[in-house]
Amino acid sequence: TAGEVSFTDRLYVPPLARSTRDPDGRRVFDLRAAPGRRRLRPGRPTETWGLNGPMLGPTLRAARGETVQVNVRNDLPETTTIHWHGMHLPARMDGGPHQPIAPGATWSPYWTIDQPAATLWYHPHPHGQTARHVYRGLAGMFIVDDPDASVAGLPSRYGVDDIPLIVQDVLLDDDNRLVERRRPMNGVGVLGDQVLVNGVLHPYHEVTTERVRLRLLNGSGARVYRFGFTDGRSFAVVGSDGGLLPAPYETDRIQLSPGERAEIVVTFRPGRRAVLRSHPPDLGVDVWNGRFSGGDDTLDVMEFRPAARLAPSPALPSRLAAAPALAAASAPVTRRFELSGFSVNGRRMDMNRIDFGVVRNTTEVWEITAIDSKPHNFHVHDVQFQVLSVDGAPPPPELRGWKDTVYIPDRRPVRIALRFGEHTDPRTPYMFHCHVLYHEDQGLMGQFVVTEPGQ
Ligand code: C2O
Repeated sequence: TAGEVSFTDRLYVPPLARSTRDPDGRRVFDLRAAPGRRRLRPGRPTETWGLNGPMLGPTLRAARGETVQVNVRNDLPETTTIHWHGMHLPARMDGGPHQPIAPGATWSPYWTIDQPAATLWYHPHPHGQTARHVYRGLAGMFIVDDPDASVAGLPSRYGVDDIPLIVQDVLLDDDNRLVERRRPMNGVGVLGDQVLVNGVLHPYHEVTTERVRLRLLNGSGARVYRFGFTDGRSFAVVGSDGGLLPAPYETDRIQLSPGERAEIVVTFRPGRRAVLRSHPPDLGVDVWNGRFSGGDDTLDVMEFRPAARLAPSPALPSRLAAAPALAAASAPVTRRFELSGFSVNGRRMDMNRIDFGVVRNTTEVWEITAIDSKPHNFHVHDVQFQVLSVDGAPPPPELRGWKDTVYIPDRRPVRIALRFGEHTDPRTPYMFHCHVLYHEDQGLMGQFVVTEPGQ
């Protein structure tokens, strides 16, 4: 059951990053990663890492069709990287382990945004160190807009009725230091006992409009959340990792594993407070099986405090976006991935090994199966994919939009269709991996390249 939580601190909403326009018309952002300190609770401030501030980073926002450049300066004491999770872009701009930024250096990737409006995010991806770098506070949202496909009726005033929520669990010691390793090992990495939202411990937020869109990101390394409200109210799910769903659907629970996003629209009543809670998730494994333990807690996340009078919101649209339709729905399985014991198909990550190549502008079907009785998910760089089936059954509604990360329940194969685009590079790989960051760091990751036909 949930510990006693009082919602004493106001929610922090990461500011929208400022940008300039360079002579080539690029929208240019500046990020600077550096150590910081933040007072998370009474007592000593916590030593953190952040981008343009002590913890987390600003929200980057750009439109489809724009060319963006992000100058990332590293003022940390060690090498890191910044990866654009969910973004379709050339491999050299991806920010994975092959694009390290040494202390004192600046990395300036640029690319043209060409994908549907979505809630993406950015985070470090240094080989073997990702869990620690994210946990210390390096992460931020990247919102993509698509002016040609805007949907009327969705709350969209950033910070007013459109709120990003980066949810991360932490474990603090008596001196308010982040505990980065917990003994005994539990098979997934650190599971915190308290929840940060945008870097604030279980905050409250004052609601001024009848409906609010929440862009939920599971920014944790290991924990799976199953979000709902303590009063059992339902809400509308409108978006998944890579964009809006075909249509909103009502539910009272939405489960997100590390790296996944969901956009939900919640209706509030004047003066009626509502607590967002994470219920025990359905992990598809026995949480006390001896190979893995924990993660089945109930945690209060934050409280919403609607004003006595709320500004009216428009009714939700009944259609949102075209359903993903990749021509592979009936194609044979082209690749199988078996996840077990920090390896994919028996091999652990090796930065010098490219596991396979895919040909540009082709669609493939991948089938992913986890067999080691631990919680896993699966993330692929460069693409948004479509879930075809989970254990042979059609996907549930929350998986019917574009996805870049999907939960893999034990011994229940998940089939996905992926379309690889135009960015070819025979030498620079993209990654696929489990987004349980401890698993990723231990080697549950592989590399592929996108090539020209015949390359
Ligand atoms: Cu969000 Cu390869 O990661």
